[in-house]
Formats: sequence, structure tokens, C-alpha cells
Amino acid sequence: MARIIMIGNRKGGVLKTTTTVNLGYELSKLGKKVLVIDFDSQADATKFFTSTDKEFYIGNALLDRKFDIEKTIYKAEIKDTEQDNLHFIPSRGGDVMTKLDIDMISLPRREERLKLQLEKIANKYDYILIDTNPGTSVLGLNAVMAATEYIFPTEYKEHSLDGVETLLEHIQDVKFIEEDEIKFLVVPSKIAKSEKRAIAYGEGYLKSRWVENTSKTTIWARSLFTEAEFEHEPASITNPGHVAASFYKKLAMEVDNA
Ligand SMILES: Nc1ncnc2c1ncn2[C@@H]1O[C@H](COP(=O)(O)OP(=O)(O)O)[C@@H](O)[C@H]1O
Ligand SMILES: [Mg+2]
Repeated sequence: MARIIMIGNRKGGVLKTTTTVNLGYELSKLGKKVLVIDFDSQADATKFFTSTDKEFYIGNALLDRKFDIEKTIYKAEIKDTEQDNLHFIPSRGGDVMTKLDIDMISLPRREERLKLQLEKIANKYDYILIDTNPGTSVLGLNAVMAATEYIFPTEYKEHSLDGVETLLEHIQDVKFIEEDEIKFLVVPSKIAKSEKRAIAYGEGYLKSRWVENTSKTTIWARSLFTEAEFEHEPASITNPGHVAASFYKKLAMEVDNA
């Protein structure tokens, strides 16, 4: 059965999408079968995996229980090469995801629909990663309900750490469980080595709050990721020899061993 991991934080720009895409790719390179689901209306993760519009998207499977979710799954294309171990379910840009959210409000079992659809395919994957947006919505609830665990990328800033706290509280409310019953990993992300004060603050916060749940891997601030984003590809494809290309390889091994 797949480990279903929601990548989340109530703050934007903390590397949710970068983490989803790069971690998904590196897990697939470890020989794991990976499915990435793009739940964000900006469709950023989708852009990493294809340059063409696909016929179906996640909404088809959420609105109609009889819709075969397999039809929404596509092979990721990286440098125009289809990946065997890395698949994705696209999001849609514009207002499509907002409309989907509104359409779902009045539907029965509206919060469980992703979970119920994923049960049909979970035996085909080792990992299902869900990239989410910062907001609250019916779609967000679906991601929380479907996930068996969580990754929270965070900067060493008050707002990003607050974003983790708020989301953790939300997960407890939605799943009706306590924090120590949630499987999660906090990943320090976009950390600039020169910002000593932020590092002292962030490390202190994580040590006092989530010492057991903080990743050993730090995603340092590096321009390689911005370059890779321009190319719509994982960082280790853009520059395999670069030190930053190893960050998500390390994180993938850490996640896979957890
Ligand atoms: N390690 C990094 N260092 C510096 N910038 C990064 C790094 N990784 C990603 N970025 C850039 O930071 C921006 C926000 O990242 P993104 O993953 O889109 O955040 P989110 O999905 O949380 O909104 C993007 O433009 C991305 O290219
Ligand atoms: Mg994003």
C-alpha cells in the first residue's frame, strides 16, 4: 500500500511544490513507484511534468464516483522523456480549481472523495505525494483526509512556522486525533547560511517544539532551484554535479527509511 503524503504549509513560497516535485523524482530514482497529485490551482507541479494540456484532471475523479481515476493519471515527462516510475494527476489553472471547490461543497462525502478514489489505486504505488496550496478549502480537506502522513517545509521565519502550527491544528480537528498520533516531518527549507539570526531562531524553535519530527536534511537556499524551475525539471537533472542536487536525494533516503 502506498504511503500517501500531503506536502503542506499555510504559508506560500516555503517550497511545497519544489519539495513535491524533487522528492517525487528522487524517490522514483530509488526505484519507487511514485504518483504526484497536483491540488493547487496554480498548477505549478503540473508544469514540471508536462508542457501540454491533458484531457482529464483531478476534478473528474472527485466529482464523479464512477469516473475511473486511472484515466486522470499520466506519465511525467521530464526533458520530453516519459518516466516509468513517476506519474502525476494534473491540476487546472485559471478558476477551474476554485469552481471545483465550490461545486464540491454540496456533494455527499465531499471531504472523503480523494481518499475513497485513492483506495482504488493505492496498491499500485509506493508513494503518493499531494502538493497543496496554503488555503483552507474542500480540496484542502480532501488532501488532509486522504494523507497517511505529512511533510511541512518551512523557512526559519515566524510566519512559516506559524503556518505549520495552524495546519497541524487543522489536521487534528479534521482527523479528530492528537498531534502525537500524526506522522509528520518538518523540513527546514530555503535556509540562507548567512542569516545567522534566523538560523538560531529556527533551530531553537524546532528543537523545543518538534525535535523528533524535524528532518535531518536541510534544504539550503540555492539558485539552482530557480534555474531548474525555469527549465521545468528537477534540480538534479539541471545540474547533477551541483551540491544542491543532493539535497532532495538525501531527503528521499530519509523519508524512505522512516
Ligand atoms: N532551495 C531553494 N533556494 C532558493 N529558492 C528556492 C529553492 N527552492 C525553490 N526555490 C524557489 O522559491 C520559490 C517558491 O517555491 P515553491 O516550491 O513554488 O513554494 P510553494 O509551493 O510553497 O509556494 C520558487 O520560485 C522556487 O524556484
Ligand atoms: Mg506551490
